Amino acid sequence: MMMMMNNKKKNISIITAVSTNYVIGKDGLLPWSLPKDWEHFNRSTTNYPIIMGKRTFYEQEDRPLPDRYTIVVTRDSSLLDKHGNVMEERIGHLSRASSIEDALKMLDDYSGDQVFIVGGRRIYEDSLYLATELIITHVEAHVEGDTHLRLFPHQDEPNKDRNNHYWDVVNQVKHSKDDTHQYDFTIKYYQRSTNN
Ligand SMILES: NC(=O)c1ccc[n+]([C@@H]2O[C@H](COP(=O)([O-])OP(=O)(O)OC[C@H]3O[C@@H](n4cnc5c(N)ncnc54)[C@H](OP(=O)(O)O)[C@@H]3O)[C@@H](O)[C@H]2O)c1
Repeated sequence: MMMMMNNKKKNISIITAVSTNYVIGKDGLLPWSLPKDWEHFNRSTTNYPIIMGKRTFYEQEDRPLPDRYTIVVTRDSSLLDKHGNVMEERIGHLSRASSIEDALKMLDDYSGDQVFIVGGRRIYEDSLYLATELIITHVEAHVEGDTHLRLFPHQDEPNKDRNNHYWDVVNQVKHSKDDTHQYDFTIKYYQRSTNN
């Protein structure tokens, strides 16, 4: 049985990008180059706390991402920079937590009512029950990769998530393929359905 946290006042947004065959990563990296989607990610998350898994943290050469309080979920006792040196941890800049629930607890006393869950797969799946919003970039292509995410696994009920809760699309923005964007993609914003 999952424990509900004291996070009712926080908006917990999962932000992710997924291909039509549910790929989110390849060899530890994003398997596409979509600058406008990266801009959207940065515009959405800058100045807010973000929670990420260890592998996603280490995939960024320049870590942590600027202007965002980053909490890394890991059992490791320290975080290393790209040179292998132990990184300084400081509330408001960079922290470690041993679970998503602990990461959110750390934010109880932190100002602001918005937090973003930024991956990878395990973090997304494990935090879905807590999320109040999903921001999903649907990359309209079949893409090769090794990390898959299927938040909506029901063929017959496309808006029912893997925990059997329903979501409504409240906004969407479509982008077309061009010289700098390999694929068409649509950014969809989901809120929990009142049917739940
Ligand atoms: N398309 C997208 O939007 C997007 C976004 C982010 C990442 N990605 C891709 O996803 C891939 C990485 O995802 P991943 O699933 O392999 O790795 P990940 O979730 O980034 O990291 C996994 C590690 O994080 C810790 N962890 C994750 N969930 C946890 C939980 N619920 N409780 C405790 N610890 C937890 C564990 O570290 P310990 O072993 O230290 O305990 C685990 O080994 C990369 O290819 C990346 O590019 C894609």
